[in-house]
Amino acid sequence: MENRKLTMKFAGRFIELLGQQMYGGPVPAVAELIANAWDADAPRVEVEVPEDPNAVGAEIVVRDFGHGMSFDDLNNYYLTIGYERRSRGQRTPGGRPVMGRKGIGKLAGFGIAEDIVVRSVRAGRAVEILLNYSDLRNRQAIEGLELEPTADEETTEPDGVSVTFRRLKLKRRINLDSFMRSMSRRFALQSDLMQIKINTAGLTKEQLPLEHRDPVAPDWAEQEIEGLGRVKYWIGFLDAPITDPESVLSHTDVKRHSNQALKRVGLQSPKNSIKKFSYSWGY
Ligand SMILES: Nc1ncnc2c1ncn2[C@@H]1O[C@H](COP(=O)(O)OP(=O)(O)O)[C@@H](O)[C@H]1O
Ligand SMILES: [Mg+2]
Repeated sequence: MENRKLTMKFAGRFIELLGQQMYGGPVPAVAELIANAWDADAPRVEVEVPEDPNAVGAEIVVRDFGHGMSFDDLNNYYLTIGYERRSRGQRTPGGRPVMGRKGIGKLAGFGIAEDIVVRSVRAGRAVEILLNYSDLRNRQAIEGLELEPTADEETTEPDGVSVTFRRLKLKRRINLDSFMRSMSRRFALQSDLMQIKINTAGLTKEQLPLEHRDPVAPDWAEQEIEGLGRVKYWIGFLDAPITDPESVLSHTDVKRHSNQALKRVGLQSPKNSIKKFSYSWGY
């Protein structure tokens, strides 16, 4: 027998397929970066979003003050698509539950931007790379792709990562109110521990009118849950469905999550009605 080997390769289009899987729009793309800031134990993250993405030079910037990435971290973690973050544990070094899952969060940006610039500072050294969508997309194969940093230098900047989306592919104006609301929903839990600033405003928890809250405000219930540890929670039900089209959780997600959550804490929803789950919200 001849001793030849076959090689499995990934075409550049793979990036597009993964990106599509992550749905488009500025909210999910920026949310992935805020999630990365959370996983990097950042005490704060600053987001700049333009109202008009078609204005000359319009860009979206997400800057965090987390632990940043060294040259090797960029190489081994950031640029390894599908790298399993949780293989390094379910908690961050600072003790936060890890949000990252699939190792493809960074690709969500390609749904809305032609260029992604990542500048990472760690211990007085800055490394910057530019990822260009069309360039990656049109390659026959992307494994082992060599990237030359656009900067690799000493710096006095603090540790952290800043990601800039350039040459935005968004057609419509960004509704900043709805953008803020969507982020408040997604990061309601995290905003206690990590300050999130969007343009000039800090993210605050959304106050929703509750028909029913268990336990009654301001109490929290506490329970030991296998595999998770001690969990503090409350569950609220709204008297009307959430109508915001940017609402994070789809109906099925809400049902799935609420079902699991309620089962795990051994609760019954009011009237034990599944339909009610579309009215539930909690953080
Ligand atoms: N802002 C950041 N600060 C520090 N490390 C980061 C940051 N963003 C990404 N990383 C590193 O790059 C990896 C890949 O990120 P991502 O594509 O979002 O996938 P995931 O979050 O699922 O691991 C992360 O696991 C982390 O190690
Ligand atoms: Mg991530």
